[in-house]
Amino acid sequence: MSDFTKVAFIGSECYPFIKTGGLGDVMYALPRALIRQDCEVRVFMPYYKCIPEKYKKDMVYRGSFMMDLCLDGRTFYVGIMETVVDGVIYDFIDNREFFDWGNPYTGLWEDIPKYCYFSKAALAVLNYMEWIPDVIHCHDWQAGLVPVYLRTRFADTPVGRARTVLTIHNLRFQGICGIPHMKYWTGLPDYLFDYPVFKQNDDDANMFKAGLAYADRITTVSATYAQEIQTTFFGEGLNDHLSYHSTKLKGIVNGIDVEQWDPARDSLLPERYDASSAIAQKKADKRALQEKLGLEVDENKYVIGLISRLTDQKGLDLVNAIFQDMLDDNTQVVILGTGDPRYEGSFRYYESVNKGKVCAYIQYNEALAHQIYAGSDALLVPSLFEPCGLTQLIAMRYGTVPIVRETGGLKDTVKAYNPETNEGNGFTFVDYMTSELLGAIDRSKDLYFNDRGRWDEMVLRDMAKDVSWENSAKQYLDLYHELKNA
Ligand code: ADP
Ligand code: GLC
Repeated sequence: MSDFTKVAFIGSECYPFIKTGGLGDVMYALPRALIRQDCEVRVFMPYYKCIPEKYKKDMVYRGSFMMDLCLDGRTFYVGIMETVVDGVIYDFIDNREFFDWGNPYTGLWEDIPKYCYFSKAALAVLNYMEWIPDVIHCHDWQAGLVPVYLRTRFADTPVGRARTVLTIHNLRFQGICGIPHMKYWTGLPDYLFDYPVFKQNDDDANMFKAGLAYADRITTVSATYAQEIQTTFFGEGLNDHLSYHSTKLKGIVNGIDVEQWDPARDSLLPERYDASSAIAQKKADKRALQEKLGLEVDENKYVIGLISRLTDQKGLDLVNAIFQDMLDDNTQVVILGTGDPRYEGSFRYYESVNKGKVCAYIQYNEALAHQIYAGSDALLVPSLFEPCGLTQLIAMRYGTVPIVRETGGLKDTVKAYNPETNEGNGFTFVDYMTSELLGAIDRSKDLYFNDRGRWDEMVLRDMAKDVSWENSAKQYLDLYHELKNA
């Protein structure tokens, strides 16, 4: 068998077309890394109305057909729009009934039918286009039904010979609804609605659970999270199910696209820099950031950034609780994020009472994110749980020191600074406690203000650290080969 492996990526978001978080980054970067390792990759995602016109205008219509879906055999239109970017082919599944909403995710009642349709349509499109992959790599619950449909409705069709990998990016989201609603929309037979597959409890069915049962392999985005999700605290109700399937579960840590995130070539930065110019140029980026955000312009201030979905996952209750304590006359805080109104409101409040010292930018803003990664000294990621986390990787690439809680991928990617040996990449804490978070921030300040030489060495160490996809893409490739040759 040739080493040239065909892989179909199926997922609900992909940068630059649509991105709400790290899943969008991975769906963009991993295929690009794989094609450099002799894979042929196609990415399948919904043709959402909110995809910007500048991308839509380059898409080409590749055909359409009608597909049955529900228990009563209702049929739906499936259109295929295609575009190619840097050697990766993107196929968008078009259906106005499902994808004409403002946002990709609108609430489970609508999202469950939407992603039942999407999962089944993606397989039907593969047959329609006569492009049969060796491996179908599905991402999160929205593509969770792909392995189930593949082994049932599509078993005797050409695509039926493909093998599946299902990656858990975040177990918090699972696609759970009442059994009748799920039975109706999937149109799948009754025998699947028992505990080993769909059944969650007496009333509910779970799409992710079913996909995990039927996938040939399960991966998640760090080795630590692969262990954590087999425990009650992190398992989100699926820990026993995952322990049962643990022989096919593996953690492969995420990387970032080091071309997309490159301070030496980043056109969104006021000043670009590489390792040789970072220490000076980051100060210029800091001043530009302070000026843009209405903070006191002073390159000697310690600037702590936070770029995040504003949800409980990200440890923001801790940040809230210590907000005033982490500030001092020489420290500034910049927050970029949207989400839970509770956090949006409290961060706005802290800005209003700390004018010139704090900026809470409650928006999703790609360009500003780049400028914060470059212009901050440290980036705060104190998550309650974090499957991998990309912001700490981007920060290191930009010479910005991460302050993280040791959980999931944060634990696997940030080595704690050791003052004895002068090694490490950032400041970490273990227990989910305000005093621990504050302790880590204080240690970072101590090094920044009292031993700038060592601080600068850490900046350069972080910039030199390999955070690319290279290694992890190889591990995925090995997994694909194993499945292909099995
Ligand atoms: P998650 O997927 O849980 O949201 P990750 O750390 O894996 O967390 O990925 C977050 C991604 O989203 C990063 O690329 C980060 O820069 C980006 N991001 C998060 N919030 C914003 C925002 N408000 N504006 C711009 N980019 C954001
Ligand atoms: C999820 C996780 C995040 C991870 C991302 C990409 O959204 O919350 O930790 O980095 O997926 O895998």
